[in-house]
Amino acid sequence: MANSRGSIQARLAWLLQFFCLIFISTTAQAVSLDLHVLSACQQFKSLYGNLTFLANQTQYTALADENWSQTAWADPSCILQPANTPQVQNILRLLTAQQIPFAIRSGGHLPSPLGANINRGVLIDLSLLKTLDYDAANEVVSIGSGLRWQAVYEGLAPYERTAVGGRLLDVGVGGLLLGSGLSYLSDLYGLACDNVVNFEVVLASGEMVNANATSNSDLFWALKGGANNFGIVTTFTVRTYPIGNVWGGIKAYDLEYLPDVLAALNTYQSVENKDPYANLMVQAATTNSSIGVLLNLVYLKPMANPAAFDPFYGIPTLEDTTVIQSFVDFMSEAVMPDIPRWDWHATSFKPTASLYSQIADIVTTAPEINELISVNTATLVVGIQPISTSLIAAGHAAGSNALGLEAVNQTWLVLDIGWEKSTDDTKAHNLTRSLKNRIEKASVDAGQYVEYIFMNDASWDQEVIAHYGDESVDRLKAVRDKYDSTEIFQRLVKGGFKLG
Ligand SMILES: *[C@@H]1O[C@H](CO)[C@@H](O)[C@H](O)[C@H]1NC(C)=O
Ligand SMILES: *[C@@H]1O[C@H](CO)[C@@H](O)[C@H](O)[C@H]1NC(C)=O
Ligand SMILES: *[C@@H]1O[C@H](CO)[C@@H](O)[C@H](O)[C@H]1NC(C)=O
Ligand SMILES: *[C@@H]1O[C@H](CO)[C@@H](O)[C@H](O)[C@H]1NC(C)=O
Ligand SMILES: *[C@@H]1O[C@H](CO)[C@@H](O)[C@H](O)[C@H]1NC(C)=O
Ligand SMILES: *[C@@H]1O[C@H](CO)[C@@H](O)[C@H](O)[C@H]1NC(C)=O
Ligand SMILES: *[C@@H]1O[C@H](CO)[C@@H](O)[C@H](O)[C@H]1NC(C)=O
Repeated sequence: MANSRGSIQARLAWLLQFFCLIFISTTAQAVSLDLHVLSACQQFKSLYGNLTFLANQTQYTALADENWSQTAWADPSCILQPANTPQVQNILRLLTAQQIPFAIRSGGHLPSPLGANINRGVLIDLSLLKTLDYDAANEVVSIGSGLRWQAVYEGLAPYERTAVGGRLLDVGVGGLLLGSGLSYLSDLYGLACDNVVNFEVVLASGEMVNANATSNSDLFWALKGGANNFGIVTTFTVRTYPIGNVWGGIKAYDLEYLPDVLAALNTYQSVENKDPYANLMVQAATTNSSIGVLLNLVYLKPMANPAAFDPFYGIPTLEDTTVIQSFVDFMSEAVMPDIPRWDWHATSFKPTASLYSQIADIVTTAPEINELISVNTATLVVGIQPISTSLIAAGHAAGSNALGLEAVNQTWLVLDIGWEKSTDDTKAHNLTRSLKNRIEKASVDAGQYVEYIFMNDASWDQEVIAHYGDESVDRLKAVRDKYDSTEIFQRLVKGGFKLG
């Protein structure tokens, strides 16, 4: 078993060689002459000396160039690290009063350039907001926006509880929850955002309010999918659930079995009353046949080889790490390979056997695949995520969200593209978009297209919020008019997925 796991990590770890740690600093004084921004930075420096980082300070570069995707590196005029909610309030009052452009970052696990970073403006880095407070009586946990999911899961483990959160442990809490958040627990309890019971949020005015089912309930609804359009959430209170050992791991297949894996997936998704304790995602590295297809599967009880995964058991594996283990150990197996630049595109459809067969064909033989291979060994990972009606029903039961999801069984597909050089950014983006369009056309032609674009998997130019539907967008705008009447979070926070 240990060997098998080691070998799967080797499949991912080879990517390290591309990384080579050539951190070319992009900060070299592209810093603006925007005097009012610089003067605000000076004011912050005098107010919060040890929480403000100017471009000439040693800590600045590590903070500006967040260690994940280089596409998200930028040159903020200064970086602020508020350590508590009153500081966030003061910072927002000053930014609003002086009309200073800014960006907000929690974990920064978003490849979109300027989604959580900024040039010529202020970057608010929330990573010092590290509250982790379990309330056993109410079975909820309050989580600071700056935490990453690993800390949340590890903090809850002594109570044998978990939360509906990220599947990758180094993803930040804030971006995932405000973008909706897909979890291995979602078929049971809904999306991550559906499990928030309270948002502590600082509005453009600097006022701190609670948004929950009984207080500011319109804002509560809007923040479930509303991203950075309404305020800065400093603390999320979310429901927790019991968790013990699970059965899970990764099954690796030769790329030639992709059609078989997708046929099995279709069967898995169409059995009557799919077992909600079973969850999975498929990842196929179709630009590199030596990585193949990885099936990441988990059963949320300590039971090996449950019937829910029957459709997959007959397909020959190259490796198989499935074992009974803790939920956190299972998730720690899934690491993003160390590739310097990333982008991703999302699309959704209602699956059928024939559509999956067409998609297997598109992602292995479309002309874009060869073109991507020629882009400095770009690596494409096709992620396929089954979403069952029980997930959508659980969201409605929890009081609904802004996402406008159709109550149908569906698949959220993501094309993850990793590459090396900034000179290839546009090419990698355009080729992946073109591949996404090809898949979308196949699903439209088959009458199986679903409007929804999953925000946490979307590229910077995908119109995520517009795809929530007119009803949702109109309601979001009404909430915006009420809580941010001068549109600070539209005009000054330009990055990310905007309400418009
Ligand atoms: C920053 O300075 C304040 C006092 O001015 C101090 O209380 C706080 O601990 C310092 N924070 C850090 C991170 O050094
Ligand atoms: C950084 O720049 C500020 C002015 O913008 C200056 O006051 C400060 O002394 C500089 N610090 C260093 C370490 O050069
Ligand atoms: C970046 O993060 C990865 C894991 O997420 C870690 O292995 C690596 O050491 C980090 N690199 C730097 C320069 O911090
Ligand atoms: C909802 O907000 C009100 C007003 O701030 C607060 O008193 C109440 O405790 C909040 N409810 C929850 C579930 O956090
Ligand atoms: C969704 O799929 C489940 C099987 O997992 C099935 O029982 C259910 O009827 C389907 N729902 C819809 C609305 O198609
Ligand atoms: C494909 O992946 C293998 C590891 O499985 C690696 O050795 C090889 O360099 C990769 N090839 C390309 C073209 O990226
Ligand atoms: C990428 O697509 C954009 C928008 O369609 C287009 O303007 C641009 O020329 C394309 N660039 C490349 C390098 O393909």
